[in-house]
Order: sequence, then C-alpha cells, then structure tokens
Amino acid sequence: MNVQAPRILLRRQLLGGVKRRASREPYRCFSCSVRDAQQQTPPPKSPQHAQGTTHFGFETVAEALKEQKVGAVFSSVASSYDAMNDFMSLGIHRLWKDHFVRNLNPGRNPLTSSSSDQGWNILDIAGGTGDIAFRMLDYASTINNDAHTKVTVADINPDMLAEGRKRALSTPYARSPRLKFVEANAETLDMIPDSSIDLYTVAFGIRNFTHKGTALREAYRVLKPGGVFACLEFSKVNNPLFDAFYKRWSFGAIPLIGQVVAGDRDSYQYLVESIERFPSQTEFRDMIQDAGLLVPGQGWEDLTGGIAAIHKGVKPT
Ligand SMILES: C[S@@+](CC[C@H](N)C(=O)[O-])C[C@H]1O[C@@H](n2cnc3c(N)ncnc32)[C@H](O)[C@@H]1O
Repeated sequence: MNVQAPRILLRRQLLGGVKRRASREPYRCFSCSVRDAQQQTPPPKSPQHAQGTTHFGFETVAEALKEQKVGAVFSSVASSYDAMNDFMSLGIHRLWKDHFVRNLNPGRNPLTSSSSDQGWNILDIAGGTGDIAFRMLDYASTINNDAHTKVTVADINPDMLAEGRKRALSTPYARSPRLKFVEANAETLDMIPDSSIDLYTVAFGIRNFTHKGTALREAYRVLKPGGVFACLEFSKVNNPLFDAFYKRWSFGAIPLIGQVVAGDRDSYQYLVESIERFPSQTEFRDMIQDAGLLVPGQGWEDLTGGIAAIHKGVKPT
C-alpha cells in the first residue's frame, strides 16, 4: 500500500483549491519566475481580516483552516526539509542557528553557576527536526561542561517530529532523558506547567502560528521568572537595494527550487509569502512586550542585513 497517498491527497486538497496557478504548470523557467516575482503585488501588510479569518501567505483563509494548511505544508516538506533549507539559504541558516545558540549560552555556565545547578530546562517550540535542540545540548555539554541541561522539542506536526526523532538516532541524545519530543500546539501548551522553563526558543516557527499573541502569552506563562524567550525568525531587510535583490531571489528562485528539488512548488511559495507577511522587527518587539516580557536594549539583533533577526524577552522576576 502506498502510505504517502493520503498525505499527498490531503496536501492537494489543502493547497490546490486556492490561487495555485503554478501547480497546474509542471515547470517554469527561472526568468519566468523572476518576472512573476516582479509582478507580485502582496496585499497590504496589515490587512483588516474579517472576523474569524487570517492570512496563509498572501491568501485570506478561515482561522480554523490555517492550521491544517500549515500542517500540509510541513508534512510535505518534512523529508526534504534540511536539504531545502540549505539550497534556499545557501547554508546560511546553519550559521544563524549556531549564532543563536552561542548567544544564548545554554547550560550551567561554570564561571557563574554553583555545582548544585541542575542545568537548564529548555523548551524548543516548533522544533520539528531538532536542529536547535541538538545544538543546545551539544553546546551545554561541550562548552559549559553541563550534562544536566535538557530540551523538550514541541511541534504541532507529527511528520516533522518523526524527522527529528530519526535524526536524533545519530546524536548522543537518542535514548537520553535530556531530549524529549512532544506533539503540541504552541498556542496551548497544557502539558507544560506554569513557571517551569528556563529558556523558551522558537526558530523559524512563529510566523506559521495562527495566533502569535496567544503563543507569546503561553511562552510567558511557562517561563520561570527571569526565564528567557528567544526567537530566530525571518525578518525585514534594512537596505532597500538589498531588499529588492532579496525579494527577487526569494520569490523568483525559492518556489522554483522547491519545484525542482522537492517536486513541491506550492509549499515553498507559501514559505516565501509567510516571510513577507511576518511583522517587522519593531512590530514583533512590541508584540513580545504586549505579552508581558521585558525586552533588553532595542529587543532584537539583525542577521545578514535583517534577512533574519533574533528577538529576546525576559519574564520579570
Ligand atoms: C520552518 S519549520 C522550523 C523547524 C526548526 N525549528 C528549524 O529551525 O529548523 C516550522 C515548524 O513550525 C511548526 N509549527 C507550525 N505551527 C505550529 C504551532 N502552532 N505549534 C507548534 N509548532 C508549529 C511546523 O510544524 C514546523 O515544524
């Protein structure tokens, strides 16, 4: 029996019934895609959505449908996720993730902690393939000499979690109590007790959430006083010339790469549209503050001219 069939059918149902002109065209040349990109007229940045609707890339959809559509995207890209990230970012996503983890310095810091310290309790939300979790544990173990810090990877998508569990088998944490995978929606983390988390991370996940404010308030709830919220996400490019080049690249090339490498143009079209839709650095900083978190300094650090940014917030003590 072909176990892929229902999943592919579901993806077609969820992605196929909308504007998806491209899915009827098996192949488009790069210059056609660039021309399409130039003709893209994204809807206004902060559209007034009718009650009960939200955006899915550039489309307006019923809120109840967004989660399913996002689920279909990530089920579709799960098995090719890492290769596609490398193609799309020319490998830079690895450097951003390394920097993110180094900057957070997870684990018992031998210079500042006492020997009774039990390590950090880290929650990596939308952690799918485990990219951030493995880095956190490696860093805590090798740099901070901490064998106690643990990471719970929470993700809404079982296919992404399955990829993460598979990848964990080739790490030292495969059967370790320091690494756990749980299926969960970032907006309702009922299984995580109040004030129990030292560090909440979310990398390239939050732009996919239906209610980002709700997820931020859940982050506030689960963090210990003094605990840190840290988000690595695509953001807004600062330089207009670089921005024009970047938009041409992302709208022109990324869906095309998705089509050629993964046979899935629609999912990658959604990914670039969702990046365009995500709030600016200052807007997102304000959302973090609205959730009750204190923002250090200006609140974020731009990476590669603002293609991505790291935002942080601290739960007041
Ligand atoms: C682009 S991937 C990021 C994976 C990983 N953090 C990384 O940096 O490589 C986005 C992830 O967000 C997850 N996701 C989307 N909506 C979610 C939600 N409401 N709650 C939890 N995870 C969600 C998806 O299933 C997917 O695994």
